[in-house]
Amino acid sequence: MRKDGSPVTVSGNAVGKVFLCFETKPLVATLLALALVMFIWNLQPYYENILSTTTRCSVPTSSASGGSSLPFTATPLAEQKLVTPKSIDPNKRTFQSYGNAAALFVQMGGYRGGPRTFAVVGLASKPLHVFGHPWYKCEWISNNGSSTKAKAYKMLPDWGYGRVYTVVVVNCTFSVNPNEENRGGKLVLYAYYGESPKKYEKITSLEEAPGSYDESKYRPPYEYEYLYCGSSLYGNLSGARMREWMAYHAWFFGPRSHFVFHDAGGVTPGMWAALEPWVRAGRATVQDIRGQAEFDGYYYNQFLVVNDCLHRYRHAANWTFYFDVDEYIYLPDGNTLESVLNEFGTNNTQFTIEQNAMSNVLCLNDSTQDYSRQWGLEKLLFRDSRTKIRRDRKYAIQAKNAYATGVHMSENVIGGTLHKTETKIRYYHYHNSITHHAELCRQFLPMSAKNNITWLHDTPYVYDDNMKKLAATIKQFELNTIGSVQYNVYS
Ligand SMILES: *[C@@H]1O[C@H](CO)[C@@H](O)[C@H](O)[C@H]1NC(C)=O
Ligand SMILES: *[C@@H]1O[C@H](CO)[C@@H](O)[C@H](O)[C@H]1NC(C)=O
Ligand SMILES: *[C@@H]1O[C@H](CO)[C@@H](O)[C@H](O)[C@H]1NC(C)=O
Ligand SMILES: *[C@@H]1O[C@H](CO)[C@@H](O)[C@H](O)[C@H]1NC(C)=O
Ligand SMILES: *[C@@H]1O[C@H](CO)[C@@H](O)[C@H](O)[C@H]1NC(C)=O
Ligand SMILES: *[C@@H]1O[C@H](CO)[C@@H](O)[C@H](O)[C@H]1NC(C)=O
Ligand SMILES: *[C@@H]1O[C@H](CO)[C@@H](O)[C@H](O)[C@H]1NC(C)=O
Repeated sequence: MRKDGSPVTVSGNAVGKVFLCFETKPLVATLLALALVMFIWNLQPYYENILSTTTRCSVPTSSASGGSSLPFTATPLAEQKLVTPKSIDPNKRTFQSYGNAAALFVQMGGYRGGPRTFAVVGLASKPLHVFGHPWYKCEWISNNGSSTKAKAYKMLPDWGYGRVYTVVVVNCTFSVNPNEENRGGKLVLYAYYGESPKKYEKITSLEEAPGSYDESKYRPPYEYEYLYCGSSLYGNLSGARMREWMAYHAWFFGPRSHFVFHDAGGVTPGMWAALEPWVRAGRATVQDIRGQAEFDGYYYNQFLVVNDCLHRYRHAANWTFYFDVDEYIYLPDGNTLESVLNEFGTNNTQFTIEQNAMSNVLCLNDSTQDYSRQWGLEKLLFRDSRTKIRRDRKYAIQAKNAYATGVHMSENVIGGTLHKTETKIRYYHYHNSITHHAELCRQFLPMSAKNNITWLHDTPYVYDDNMKKLAATIKQFELNTIGSVQYNVYS
């Protein structure tokens, strides 16, 4: 995905006023306090009262700055009292703190991951985890009042890419199923600020209603064969491209597959027009995660989203796929998905997939084609043929064996990881085509380029029409599945 984050900005003027306010008032107050202390040393009970009469520090709200979504107000959240030290050693300095920065824990989801195990997925202050020692503990409180404690361990699956916030997955594993009798109860997460067990927050992460636990959900056969977990969708995305992606993959993965999208603002009206028929047909789910914007993590919190999806659907499918909406999974040489995955899955929990990088501008100068009416995969037919360069890979995983995951692969799994997959499965990558709304064909090559290597910007391109060969099948499949669609509603 594109990686041009747009940090929320707050008017510098207002910030300046607030700093000024916070700095001068305590200073004046301190001076006043010191003077008073000289005179009323014997009237100790009074001086706190005198000082606490300092007026509320407020700044008139300046006009809203560029649609900022931060709940920024110039009024303090709570009035802070200045506490002067009991000793009057003039060299003894105090450090007064005001307000809170990043939260100790921001929960996105709490999930049961099996008969004895749970996962809580969220964000936490990154400096706290880098420099401090926050830790977690879990407890099951049964509806009959009894409680069971469990050890918890945390994973930070974002490879250090976090910003103000880092992604935390807490694994709670009990020695037996804490809800064995199915009376219901709740999972409580204790989040500690530091090493001390005294300072913590108590979070109810999940509740199970009486009778709702169903052990069969946590073993095969699963509801789906294949699940797609999409990362955060943001920016002005093209519904026309989405329509092709959706039809292609609904066909590719077959009727027992499901697609989960995460809308971080990228589900534009055109995108929704493309997705809605599939949502209605029960083939896709769109989760509204726009609330994530309040928490500054790596690119629209994509690491948070993929981990939430992993645990939310951990036992929903044999295989869970992670890739983007400008990427198309492809099986060379007439392999079937089931045979390839059975082979990979025997000894591996996950495998990575190599990409075919496609040009997103090159088309053949072929007067027999009406490109304006064609799908992207029908006309973008030039592949970057360099082989010895490192490119991003995407991956699929047997989620039941994964504890946490990343964007390009998971490092918290039990079982092997297979990388040598390029002759069996690949993906076509039409980089950035999903954000381009106008005609994709922007540079034309002579018909001879079909049988020759074309060098462009020091990159060799070869003709590759594997996807074009599937286009008629996909279009017919789309028509049979969701009926005819009006092409122009997508642009
Ligand atoms: C409450 O439920 C738990 C788990 O279902 C069970 O182990 C425990 O014995 C029960 N306690 C009481 C007092 O019924
Ligand atoms: C999914 O897993 C079940 C149970 O392990 C197996 O029987 C089935 O063949 C698998 N399906 C695919 C498509 O791999
Ligand atoms: C799985 O691993 C075993 C032992 O290493 C090996 O004999 C077998 O051929 C492997 N199976 C597949 C499908 O790769
Ligand atoms: C495409 O080919 C025609 C001749 O077949 C030629 O006249 C035209 O200039 C070419 N256009 C481009 C953009 O190469
Ligand atoms: C938690 O970790 C244990 C291994 O330590 C694993 O067996 C279990 O599946 C994990 N649970 C979840 C929900 O990831
Ligand atoms: C998104 O792109 C479409 C097509 O180019 C354009 O009409 C629309 O104004 C754009 N929306 C935004 C918010 O930029
Ligand atoms: C193939 O490309 C090379 C250089 O790009 C060019 O010199 C040659 O004439 C081309 N051959 C054909 C058959 O077009």
